[in-house]
Amino acid sequence: MRPAAAAVGQPLDAVDTPALVIELDAFERNLRTLADSVKGRPVRVRAHAKTHKCPEIGKRQVVMGAVGVCCQKVSEAEAMVEGGIGDVLVSNEVVGAPKIERLAALARRARVGVCVDHPDNVAALAASGATLDVYIELEVGMGRCGVPSGEPVLALARGIASHRNLRFAGLQAYHGRAQHIRSTADRRAAIEGAARAVRVTEELLNKHGIECPIVTGAGSGTYMLEVENGAWNEIQPGSYIFMDVDYGRNEWAAPLPRFEQSLFVLTTVMSTPAPSRAIVDAGLKASSIDSGMPTVWQRDGYNYAKASDEHGLVEIGASAKAPRLGEKLLLVPGHCDPTVNLYDWYVCVRDGVVEHVWPITARGALL
Ligand SMILES: Cc1ncc(COP(=O)(O)O)c(C=O)c1O
Repeated sequence: MRPAAAAVGQPLDAVDTPALVIELDAFERNLRTLADSVKGRPVRVRAHAKTHKCPEIGKRQVVMGAVGVCCQKVSEAEAMVEGGIGDVLVSNEVVGAPKIERLAALARRARVGVCVDHPDNVAALAASGATLDVYIELEVGMGRCGVPSGEPVLALARGIASHRNLRFAGLQAYHGRAQHIRSTADRRAAIEGAARAVRVTEELLNKHGIECPIVTGAGSGTYMLEVENGAWNEIQPGSYIFMDVDYGRNEWAAPLPRFEQSLFVLTTVMSTPAPSRAIVDAGLKASSIDSGMPTVWQRDGYNYAKASDEHGLVEIGASAKAPRLGEKLLLVPGHCDPTVNLYDWYVCVRDGVVEHVWPITARGALL
């Protein structure tokens, strides 16, 4: 890991760039907003750590009421347990002997859950001897992993229950595509479709005497729709702590609260070729562009138009004041998760001064 990206007490303006910045006041309000929104509801929060990849943040989510975290990769889960999180769900299928061995080793150190969608995978997990909570992943419209509702779920649940070391923990029903549907009404319709699949499946399991303790799923763009629907009793929001340009384009209407932008890329103007153009030192290796370009924070008339590896082109509108060479700008990442994965450190700032520097210990944890 590289040396820390900044020093505690340093003014933000003195931080070298590109740097990944958390605005702590907004970040903490986001933690509180989520906790308040589900207060008194029959649902538990298992925040998704794929967004932040940082145990310091995972621990803060637990302090705010989360039962633990989700991870997408075994190596991400290892970093969370190493950093002090005691309850981790790998909200994904874990396939192949090396990964299953590591999952089994992790299950000796923490409570570990995992998803399945194939009987061979159930057999391989059982053969590891590990004590695991096993969730069946339902395909509810995402077009990724998972089995359709109905008989295949019953067969899998029976398979899980037949192994002493595996506990059938319930269903994962995550509708990823629904998260970024712009209108709340259309998002609600997508979640209602997912809920029907959950209910049909639960009824089938119950009819055959199989209890389904947990139904887990939901992301930042829909979670209150799942909560209101009632078919889920665990939610997995991740991006709510940071937000990004893509989520900013959603309609945020009741019952979903509005979260604030708290994650930024600090960048320096490294060249001023014309009054209408500035080149910044944050390109696509500093801010992911899979969901569109970053935007320039609180600079009317500035348009981050193009990213190359190490450079970003910012167009300056005719009525906007051009930046000077060396000036620092804050960018809002197009997509928070893959942007985080580009950095070793968060530079955490309050009132323009660095308060913490947190290592992103699961950065690059792809196994
Ligand atoms: C299984 C699962 N759950 C939850 C989330 C969290 O979603 P978000 O970051 O949109 O809140 C994701 C994100 O991709 C996911 O894959």
